[in-house]
Amino acid sequence: MRAQIKHPNTILHLVSAVTIFSLIVFVIQSSFFTNSRKIDLTNREDIQTLTEFQTSVQHCVANRGLGLSAHIIDHCQLILKFPEGTNSTWYNKQFKIFEPLEYKYDVCEAILLWEQYRNMTTVLTREYLDVRPDGWLEYAAKRIAQLGEDKCYNLSLCEEHLKVILPAKPPFHPLQFETCAVVGNSGDLLKTEFGEEIDSHDVVIRDNEAPVNEKYAKHVGRKRDFRLVVRGAARNMIKILEGAPDEVLIIKSVTHRDFNTMIKSIPNPVYLFQGIVLRRGAKGTGMKSIELALSMCHIVDIYGFTVDPGYTEWTRYFSEPKKGHNPLQGRAYYQLLECLGVIRIHSPMRAHRKQDWSDVPSRHVIKRAHTAALRLKRSQPSQAGDLGQFGSCKVWGNVGNYDGPISGSSDMSEVRKKSNYSKWEVMPFNNLRKEARDHYRQMEGVSLYKMDGNKLDDLVCVRHTLKPDT
Ligand SMILES: *[C@@H]1O[C@H](CO)[C@@H](O)[C@H](O)[C@H]1NC(C)=O
Ligand SMILES: *[C@@H]1O[C@H](CO)[C@@H](O)[C@H](O)[C@H]1NC(C)=O
Ligand SMILES: *[C@@H]1O[C@H](CO)[C@@H](O)[C@H](O)[C@H]1NC(C)=O
Ligand SMILES: *[C@@H]1O[C@H](CO)[C@@H](O)[C@H](O)[C@H]1NC(C)=O
Repeated sequence: MRAQIKHPNTILHLVSAVTIFSLIVFVIQSSFFTNSRKIDLTNREDIQTLTEFQTSVQHCVANRGLGLSAHIIDHCQLILKFPEGTNSTWYNKQFKIFEPLEYKYDVCEAILLWEQYRNMTTVLTREYLDVRPDGWLEYAAKRIAQLGEDKCYNLSLCEEHLKVILPAKPPFHPLQFETCAVVGNSGDLLKTEFGEEIDSHDVVIRDNEAPVNEKYAKHVGRKRDFRLVVRGAARNMIKILEGAPDEVLIIKSVTHRDFNTMIKSIPNPVYLFQGIVLRRGAKGTGMKSIELALSMCHIVDIYGFTVDPGYTEWTRYFSEPKKGHNPLQGRAYYQLLECLGVIRIHSPMRAHRKQDWSDVPSRHVIKRAHTAALRLKRSQPSQAGDLGQFGSCKVWGNVGNYDGPISGSSDMSEVRKKSNYSKWEVMPFNNLRKEARDHYRQMEGVSLYKMDGNKLDDLVCVRHTLKPDT
């Protein structure tokens, strides 16, 4: 044997090496053990925090829900129930059932999702396409109708389609506005005169072809700042936007040739919405308007969403009733959102209430619940990750002191070229509200974008070089 032990000293060395090794293993193991005990303890505190939060959500629903009640299952799950005897009149042909009277929610997930929106960019930009893996090749192709191919094999062709609505960087910022009114199209608006109240907001966001004129002014107001539209509305848009050259048009789904022709002829700022996925809670343009609002506004008031008990069909303030919405599901989800501090609901049956939001959990309480929900989620083995504000960033990109190009193309009409359509894109940082500037600094100049709808931890994060004077 070659490796014969020649010296008793070697044995001694070996023995001590083994001892040291086991000691190290023991120390590592026991520190791991205390660590996991510590995690256990924090988990218990977090569960306690969330349990208390559930109770405050329950009170809020009882006070504000017009008959809805919340039933707590555990620290995250909750069922919202309509009172017995509620008439469920909307028939779901696909599942052959009337709408249920109970809706189960995961409050922890909801709070993580909606708090995230407050820091998000919801407008498609060039930097996003540059940073997202296959952003141009695959994702851009999905946002262009009539491309004729499933991918952007010809990059300059795709750019041609998009550049008229593609800013280099986010034109709007988190907390840019203090108060925003999101106005849905419900026929309920005609039962009240919220016009002046709506107009008193810093920003008003409307949907699709909603008319704003003398006839409806006392019900829906006159102010026009944003309009979220679906594909196919292009033909009506020219007429609707007339008289409001500053109203920002945000296209919800895809752009296409007709839309581009329309855009090139009008003076309005136009962008594409970023983050198009429908989620379970509630559907439609209304939900997207809330997402858009939350990504720019501190307080979001909603009007015209048909959220009172007793109605049986979907109505619009400017046209005949339509069928095909799910009123109970919508009403339950909006009530949950109000009690999570995401929105404030205004409706005919709430119109005579004193405006008092003291039964909605405060920002401070919500932030605490958010922290607890995040820590619990991250302590699950499959979800490990950083608890900081960038813990959900999956893909990173950097943009230097990069100031262009602004959206537009060489074949735009004189009307557009001479207009102020790019004013939000070129607005100097120092013109932003103080809260928005503070936020930008706290976020270290990073913009967050969703990659794919529902997921919470696959954000695309783009870091901007902060200029020394900002
Ligand atoms: C439900 O519908 C029935 C029959 O149409 C009606 O008699 C009852 O009053 C309705 N209940 C409520 C709470 O609206
Ligand atoms: C790519 O698109 C551009 C712009 O439409 C066009 O001029 C060019 O011919 C296309 N290239 C190929 C290889 O098809
Ligand atoms: C363009 O918009 C900005 C910001 O609202 C404003 O300060 C500027 O005066 C506008 N310019 C014109 C020509 O309307
Ligand atoms: C949102 O931004 C604030 C800074 O304004 C930061 O403190 C917070 O952690 C962020 N929250 C989320 C969920 O990203």
